[in-house]
Amino acid sequence: MAFKRASRLDKLPPYLFIEIDRKKREAIAAGKDVIDFGVGDPDRPTPRFIIDRMATAVYDPKNHRYPFDTGVPAFRETAAKWFYARFGVALDPHKEMLVLIGSKEGLGHLPLAVLEPGDIALIPSPGYPVYQAATVFAGGVPHVMPLTEQRGYLPDLDAIPAAVLDKAALLFLNYPNNPTGAVASPAFYEKCVALARRHGFIICSDAAYSEVYYDDGDRPHSILEVPGAKDVCVEMHSLSKTFNMTGWRIAFAAGCPEVLAALAKVKGNMDSGAFNAIQEAGAAALHDSERREVTEIRETYRARRDLLVAGLARSRFGVRSPAATFYVWAHCPAGYDSMACAARLLDEAAVVAIPGVGFGQTGEGYVRFALTVERERIAQAIDRLARLKW
Ligand SMILES: Cc1ncc(COP(=O)(O)O)c(C=O)c1O
Repeated sequence: MAFKRASRLDKLPPYLFIEIDRKKREAIAAGKDVIDFGVGDPDRPTPRFIIDRMATAVYDPKNHRYPFDTGVPAFRETAAKWFYARFGVALDPHKEMLVLIGSKEGLGHLPLAVLEPGDIALIPSPGYPVYQAATVFAGGVPHVMPLTEQRGYLPDLDAIPAAVLDKAALLFLNYPNNPTGAVASPAFYEKCVALARRHGFIICSDAAYSEVYYDDGDRPHSILEVPGAKDVCVEMHSLSKTFNMTGWRIAFAAGCPEVLAALAKVKGNMDSGAFNAIQEAGAAALHDSERREVTEIRETYRARRDLLVAGLARSRFGVRSPAATFYVWAHCPAGYDSMACAARLLDEAAVVAIPGVGFGQTGEGYVRFALTVERERIAQAIDRLARLKW
């Protein structure tokens, strides 16, 4: 019998990183010294105090059984305290908090909890590809909101047609933003919450990079700071980037209790939660989030950011220093589209950057560099770029 895969897979956008991926493999196989700014995955290890807590937790037999369905109480309570200390927003750890197996899991499952087939989800472009995939899997219809440099990479809410707003059931926001590095102001969040109330849709704010910021005096905000936001918003927070814990798979959703209960119902039928020992280690991380090992992570990215931004600016890339995230979103030199630019970087400098068009059509004309590379290697990459004539 010939296997026929489900047609919903054909509705996903083409995977545009494939060409760069293939070239990267070829370059490595040919013995080239490739400097890889591609994947946004922290290169440094998880801080030692978190690993130590995990080592103890893993021996505890109570952690060997199925996880609790909405998460280990100690994790939820510590996460709620962390949230209050960081954003000044009080959360009920039992009703307004749900543990996730990484925020990607929560983003992937949320549309199944809130969209009817045919409902519209408003999706930023360029953006993290999961918003669109998860919408399509739930039978929803993506409506793209372009993020442009002129508007500080915030969507133009006034430009969304009234007919679209009427059919919208979900709005995805992501600040600090991947791939552009932009942050959102409290005024913008207020406008989003008011719009959601007026048109009766839910907002999912993806705050995976909330702790990768560079200005201690003006840290990224939570949408839940807006009065009444908990009626219409959930926000995803992840330990992945804050604590170099991408492989551990631990995050949480906070906000509207009814939406979280619906998401918990989807999850209850799909997964059985995050390993309890990882939740214990995660609680230790959030409890001690001001430790030197953690604040050092930001300092490392800051030094890398300053080095790379200065180097790119000298090499005919249009570039602004990101306020947050570990991404540098650079305008390609004149005359190059994002695929051609990334291909030249790889062919002639053995430097991997991601073509912006891979994040959506509005990403055309840009490439993204992830700051997950040591400074010595960034300096080598800059030397190589300086020899390229565009
Ligand atoms: C914008 C954004 N959201 C969410 C995630 C998922 O993070 P995690 O599933 O590790 O929490 C990522 C990962 O790169 C991301 O870039």
